[in-house]
Amino acid sequence: MTGGTVRRIVCRMTLDRDQLRRTDLTDVNDIDAILAVTNTDVDEAIHAVRDNAEAIFTWDYEKGARPALNKLYEKAKNSQWNGETDLDWSIEVDPTKWFAGGSTDPRFGPEGYLATMPGSPVKNWDDEQWTQLANESLTWRMSQFLHGEQGALLCTAKIVETVPWIDAKYYAATQVMDEARHVEVFAKYLDTKVGDSYPINTHLKLLLDDIIEDSRWDMTYLGMQIMVEGLALAAFGFMYQLTEEPLLKKLLRYVMADEARHVAFGVLSLQEYYAGLSQSEIRERQEFAFEAAVRMRDRFLQQEVWERMGVPVKPLVRGLVDIPQEENVFQQILFSKIVPNCKKLGLLDAGDAWLRRRFEELGVIQFEDWVDTGAEYEEFDAVGQDREAAASS
Ligand SMILES: [Fe+2]
Ligand SMILES: [Fe+2]
Repeated sequence: MTGGTVRRIVCRMTLDRDQLRRTDLTDVNDIDAILAVTNTDVDEAIHAVRDNAEAIFTWDYEKGARPALNKLYEKAKNSQWNGETDLDWSIEVDPTKWFAGGSTDPRFGPEGYLATMPGSPVKNWDDEQWTQLANESLTWRMSQFLHGEQGALLCTAKIVETVPWIDAKYYAATQVMDEARHVEVFAKYLDTKVGDSYPINTHLKLLLDDIIEDSRWDMTYLGMQIMVEGLALAAFGFMYQLTEEPLLKKLLRYVMADEARHVAFGVLSLQEYYAGLSQSEIRERQEFAFEAAVRMRDRFLQQEVWERMGVPVKPLVRGLVDIPQEENVFQQILFSKIVPNCKKLGLLDAGDAWLRRRFEELGVIQFEDWVDTGAEYEEFDAVGQDREAAASS
């Protein structure tokens, strides 16, 4: 690709971002604002983002100065797996086991709720259309996981450069390898088992751009390790519980073991740093966290799926936003890792408890006392568990 082509992509993206940025988050359920963000760059081959950060050397090489990070690093070195040899790619994927846990009823989850709405465009759908939706939704979700994994790959490479502590640089370097493996296995699954994919959702793309563009090293952590990876860990867990497809199940179990460490890395690093920030600096972090939460909620409205299915997008997105909070279990579960981790970092109640009130409005505050991932990651050790089982058999 020539430099001229790259510049053209960069210029176009600058224009799009200015046009598409949601500056007003006071009404997070404004459907026109949500739908104003559409993916205009589906044909771009690369996407350039300026990362605005200084690469930091440290001359303090004392390993273990931060014992919790050192422990995590040692764990990570022992928990590496190989996507080519530890997963059985000879397994033939049965599509009926790939979606909805093998359930014969694809009217499952938030999409199924749409069928109960008066005048819904999907009200009279037949079984074939519901089956198509289930497959499209899963293809879309797996595609967004893939793109999010690449975001994590770039963010952790940036953290290696920008974090000032040697224990954190060491750990982040292991995470770069983890994320390369995650990109690799999701891409291979989509390519060889699903045979289809979706471009990146623009809400997710804008969020990843915002995280990478920010010059403050802790914002990469907050956006990626706490928010994006916290949501991913919950979403992978949800899919892991539902699917009966053995290759996907093992893939998710191994990826989740890594992700739990990654979220713990964010919690353990930011806890120390946030203790020294002023109230106004903490407020900026609260707002950044909330904006990330809204963008992630918006991405799960899967507007690209409705477009591909050829049904009116607006009433369906409206319907998904209007699902009563107590009935939207899927959305709630997505926040089950984020909220306790924000609480552990002191972000929920700092200042005038601004973030607590926002999470109350999103209907997800009930997770605040769930176990935080800073403590929970050791339970996810899939590689260690499998090695132990193999050694004793
Ligand atoms: Fe990952
Ligand atoms: Fe990760």
